[in-house]
Amino acid sequence: MSKEYKRTLITTALPYTNGPVHIGHLAGVYVPADIYARYLRLAGRPVTLIGGSDEHGVPITLKARAEGVSPQDIVDRYHSLIKKSFEGLGISFDIYSRTTSDIHSATASEFFRRLYDNDRFIEKESMQLYDAEAGQFLADRYVTGECPHCHNPKAYGDQCEACGTSLAATDLIDPHSAITGSVPELRPTRHWYLPLDRWEPALREWILEGHKEWKSNVYGQCKSWLDMGLQPRAVSRDLSWGVPVPVEGAEGKVLYVWFDAPIGYISNTKELMPDSWETWWKDPETRIINFIGKDNIVFHCIVFPAMLMAYGDGFQLPDNVPANEFLNLEGDKISTSRNWAVWLHEYLEDFPGKQDVLRYVLTANAPETKDNDFTWRDFQARNNNELVAILGNFVNRVIVLTHKYFDGVVPASGQLEPVDEAAFTDMEAFKASLTDNLENFHFREALKDAMGFARMGNKYLQDTEPWKVWKENPGRVATVINTCLQICASIAVAMEPFMPFMSSKLAGILGLSELKWDEVGTRPLQEGTKIGQPELLFEKISDETIQAQTDRLENIKKENAIRNFKPGEVKPEITIEQFGQIDLRVGTVLTCERVKKSDKLLKFSIDDGTGTPRTIVSGIARQYAPEELVGRQIVFVANLAPAKIRGVESQGMILSALNADGSLAVVAPTAQISPGASVS
Ligand code: 2FM
Ligand code: ZN
Repeated sequence: MSKEYKRTLITTALPYTNGPVHIGHLAGVYVPADIYARYLRLAGRPVTLIGGSDEHGVPITLKARAEGVSPQDIVDRYHSLIKKSFEGLGISFDIYSRTTSDIHSATASEFFRRLYDNDRFIEKESMQLYDAEAGQFLADRYVTGECPHCHNPKAYGDQCEACGTSLAATDLIDPHSAITGSVPELRPTRHWYLPLDRWEPALREWILEGHKEWKSNVYGQCKSWLDMGLQPRAVSRDLSWGVPVPVEGAEGKVLYVWFDAPIGYISNTKELMPDSWETWWKDPETRIINFIGKDNIVFHCIVFPAMLMAYGDGFQLPDNVPANEFLNLEGDKISTSRNWAVWLHEYLEDFPGKQDVLRYVLTANAPETKDNDFTWRDFQARNNNELVAILGNFVNRVIVLTHKYFDGVVPASGQLEPVDEAAFTDMEAFKASLTDNLENFHFREALKDAMGFARMGNKYLQDTEPWKVWKENPGRVATVINTCLQICASIAVAMEPFMPFMSSKLAGILGLSELKWDEVGTRPLQEGTKIGQPELLFEKISDETIQAQTDRLENIKKENAIRNFKPGEVKPEITIEQFGQIDLRVGTVLTCERVKKSDKLLKFSIDDGTGTPRTIVSGIARQYAPEELVGRQIVFVANLAPAKIRGVESQGMILSALNADGSLAVVAPTAQISPGASVS
C-alpha cells in the first residue's frame, strides 16, 4: 500500500443462499477477510466489514424447484443459517444483510436506471436458448454444456468454473437444460447489455498499469481476459426471481444476478450507515478491498468495475482483490451437490468451543497461491501438535508458574540479561514480519509469525529454567516470569485476528482490558497486576473424534457412488442354448469358515442335494462373516470346472452382486427351495 488511506471498506463475496457455507467458503473468503478486519481494528484504523447473502439468481431457483418450495423459502432458510453460523465462527461483520432487502432493490434499480438514462447500455434482440418443455429461456446455471475454451463438459451458461472464463449461454458446445435435460432451441428475446469493450482501455490502464502488486493469480486472469478482448455482457434475464428491470416494456425480466449482487456491497453499506455510506464508497481516501474466491475474479475485476466506471459519480474502484484459490477436502473437490464438504453449522455443533481450531487450520493451510487440501488428520495434528503442545502449553506453564511463585501477581522485572533482551528483540522481529504479511494479505505466513511468539516463549523457558534457580535467586525468576507474561500478552494481541476466542480468554486471564497492535512485543502488563487462574486454551482431539468425521465422509462417498452408479455395458449376445449350458442350482450352506492366511476367501460346504457336501471357495470374506451365511440358501454354478484355490479344491461358484459402494450381496431364492433344484 503506497498511499495512506483514512479508512478501509472490506467486502466479502456474498454467498448464494442455496445451501449452508462450508470450509471452502471460509478458507477462500471469510476467514482471511475477518483476519484483515480484526488486524486493522487492533491497529486503530477505521474499517467496515461488509457481508450478506446473495439471494437472487438461478442457484436459488434451481434449489427451490428441486425441493418444490418457493425461492423465498430457500433464501429465508439459508440466510438465517449462514448468518448464525458466521456469528458462531466469530466473523466480525459490521453488517450481514441480504439482496432481497428493500434497500437493495431500490439501490440496484436506481443503479440500472442511471446507466439506462445515460445511454450506458446497448439494447438488442438476439436468439437465446429456450427450453420448450419447461417453457422458459435458459441462462446461467439453467444450462450446462462444454466450455469452448477448456472443454470442461459441465460449464454453466454464464461461466466455466474450471477455467474461470465468463461465457454467454450460446457459447456452450452441446448445451442441455438443467431443468428438463432437453436440448434447447433458439428463440428471440430483448435484453440490455453492458458494453465492456467500451471500458477496456480504462480497465487495462487501471489493472495492468496501476495494480501490478495484485496477486499473480488475479493479475494473470485479468490480463488474459483483457488480451482476449472484452465483449458486451447481458445484464438482464428472462426470469421471475430477481430485481425487476426498472424500465417500461421489461415485464418478466429481472437484473442478472451478477449485476445486482455486487451492488449488494453498496446497499449493505447504505443500510449500515445511511448518513455516511457515500464517504465509504466515493472518498478517494477510502481503500476498498474485495475478498473473493477465484471463480469470482472476472466479476470483481472486470464487470463490477466497468459498472462503477459507467455509473461515475465518484464511486471508487477496489484497491485490491485478494482472491484465493480453492480448498479441497480429503483430496476431492468440495461440492455442495455431492455433499462433499465440511459444513460450518455442523462443525460448530460437532466441535463446540473449537471455533479457533478451525480458523487456525484453515489459515495455516489457506489456498493462497494454489489449491490446497483439508484433511481431518491434518486438522487433528495441527490442534494436538501446535495449538495444544506449543501455544497452550507455553501459556499454561507461565500462568501456573506465576501462581506457584508469585501468588498470581505479575512480578517486577529486574535487570535484563542478554537472553531476556533477545526475547524482546525476537518479538520485535516477529511483529515486523507479522505486520508486513498482514498488510500484504499473506495470512499463512502471518500466522507462522504469530505462532513464533509461543515457539520462542517455550524455548526461552527451557533456556532460563526458572524452577532451577528459584531457591537461590527468586529475583531472577521474577524477571523471567515477567518476560514470559509479556510474551503471553503479545500472543493475546498478535493472535486476535486469527483466534479471537482464545485471545479474549487469554486477555481475560492476563487482565488486559484493551488489545492494541502497538503493544505487541512491548510490556503492557504492569507489575503487581493480579492475573486469573490457568484455564486450558486448547485440548487434544482424540482419534475417535476424527474417525467419526472420516467415517461420515466415507459414507457420503458410498452414497454418491450408489447415486451415480451406471451399469456396465451388456456383454455380447448369447443364445438360449449357450445359456442352458450353465448349470445353476440352489444350495444350502452347511458350514463356512475363513481360508487360512487369506482375508478375502471363505470356504463353504454346501448341501447340493446329492448327499455329498460340495466344497466351494468364494472371495466374499470382506463382506460376510462366516457364521452369517450358515443355514442360508445360495445360488451356485454347478458345472464349473473345479479349480484349486489356496490349496482347496473349489467345485463351483457362488453368485453374488457387487454394489457401487463396494458392498456385496449373495444371490438367494426368496423362498425355501430343495437343495439341488435348478435355477433357470
Ligand atoms: O459465487 C458466489 O457465491 C456469488 N454469490 C458471489 C457473489 S459476490 C458479490 F458480487 F456479491
Ligand atoms: Zn472452461
